[in-house]
Amino acid sequence: MSKTVHIKTYGCQMNVYDSTRMRDVLAPLGYSETDDAETADLVILNTCHIREKAAEKVYSELGRLRDVKSARALNGKDMMIAVAGCVGQAEGTEITRRMKSVDLVFGPQTYHRLPELLKLRQETGQSVVETEFSVERKFDDLQSTPQAATSVAAFLTIQEGCDKFCTFCVVPYTRGAEFSRPVVQILGEAEKLALKGVREITLLGQNVNAYRGAGDDGQSNLARLVNQLSHIKGIERIRYMTSHPRDMSDDLIAAHAANKKLMPFLHLPVQSGSDRILKAMNRGHTATHYLKIIERMRNARSDMAISGDFIVGFPGETDEDFEATLDLVREVQYASAYSFKYSTRPGTPAAERQDQVDEVVKSERLVRLQKLIAEQTARFNVSCVGKTFAVLLEKPGRQTGQLIGRSPYLQSIHIEGENLKIGQLVNITIKSVGPNSLSGQYTPNQ
Ligand code: 5AD
Ligand code: SF4
Repeated sequence: MSKTVHIKTYGCQMNVYDSTRMRDVLAPLGYSETDDAETADLVILNTCHIREKAAEKVYSELGRLRDVKSARALNGKDMMIAVAGCVGQAEGTEITRRMKSVDLVFGPQTYHRLPELLKLRQETGQSVVETEFSVERKFDDLQSTPQAATSVAAFLTIQEGCDKFCTFCVVPYTRGAEFSRPVVQILGEAEKLALKGVREITLLGQNVNAYRGAGDDGQSNLARLVNQLSHIKGIERIRYMTSHPRDMSDDLIAAHAANKKLMPFLHLPVQSGSDRILKAMNRGHTATHYLKIIERMRNARSDMAISGDFIVGFPGETDEDFEATLDLVREVQYASAYSFKYSTRPGTPAAERQDQVDEVVKSERLVRLQKLIAEQTARFNVSCVGKTFAVLLEKPGRQTGQLIGRSPYLQSIHIEGENLKIGQLVNITIKSVGPNSLSGQYTPNQ
């Protein structure tokens, strides 16, 4: 019987991958996707727990869905509500206690069992909460369900979890310890994607460069995995995120110099430019260590574009500490970066500290940092005008004949594309810079 599912995805790319895989496991049960939560038979909120009020936002969304569910019940129609992802993992039975309309709660490590959980819900008439941890079993199970591959660029999770315990972060508690998938499993998934027309793969992990999956001859690492993936026919581009400075190995840096399929883009969060704050964050690296990595990356590939994450207003952060962050940003010259105000996450060590920074101060610092980053992004984009580089054509643009692709540096490029097709990797010369994208023109090889 045909049914519809609506999945709302919050947070990081790993959640985007998980949502894709939920669609894959639901398809054999007759579920097709709908954009409309109001008419869906099953609504899944795939949630993120990383920043403040995440859980509260989920509860208010659940309040809206409860009303939709009641209205549908009046018309004799059923609707199931599921909470997945990190809020599901962290809150567990608290969700079904507070929200009687919720049918299913499960975490990032249990969504492969969705068909079974739905069946259990139907048979018992009770809500089902499943938040056990077994990443290994999840990936083994998922192997039998290939990714549907709806685009020429796909995500592929290779590693999950975190053992680093930065003092501000909930990830080690919601996603668990670091786990790496075996090499054969990843190669298998990538080969299937390539057969479906995927040309670019982004390898995902909370600490993707800590990848240590089992290979043919013992433990592998990210550099070796990238090199193996680059031999798969059809795979033209490889990316990875997010990395940790502590796990940036020499051979990964070398892979950027040697492997042309590995894109010259590095998302490397630093969080702060102050060594005092980095220490309090338990980051395990200094600002100098971070800058050294960037320098080595740029020596390996001169066109390397750098991205990062920052937190302003970590407990105890002084004006001087914040100035050190601005100095680091000036030194790196980012192509893009994300920045956030520190928010207390219950259960994390930094949340217990008495020296929390005033909200007004945090806001002022965030504005200053974001202004500096925006200037750098604009400068980076303008520096691309007149340059020609390979762009992977990913989807149609809004206007007829227009296509949207991505540069090696992850910029979105609009192209007037007569005779061009999605999936092609073509030379594009950048003509102009818009607020959120660049425009370019097809430049055939001479
Ligand atoms: N407060 C603010 N930002 C946070 N991040 C993680 N935890 C917090 C927190 N408690 C940010 C970090 C991380 C990104 C994914 O989210 O910058 O790299
Ligand atoms: Fe969180 Fe730090 Fe682990 Fe990243 S490295 S997931 S910020 S604890």
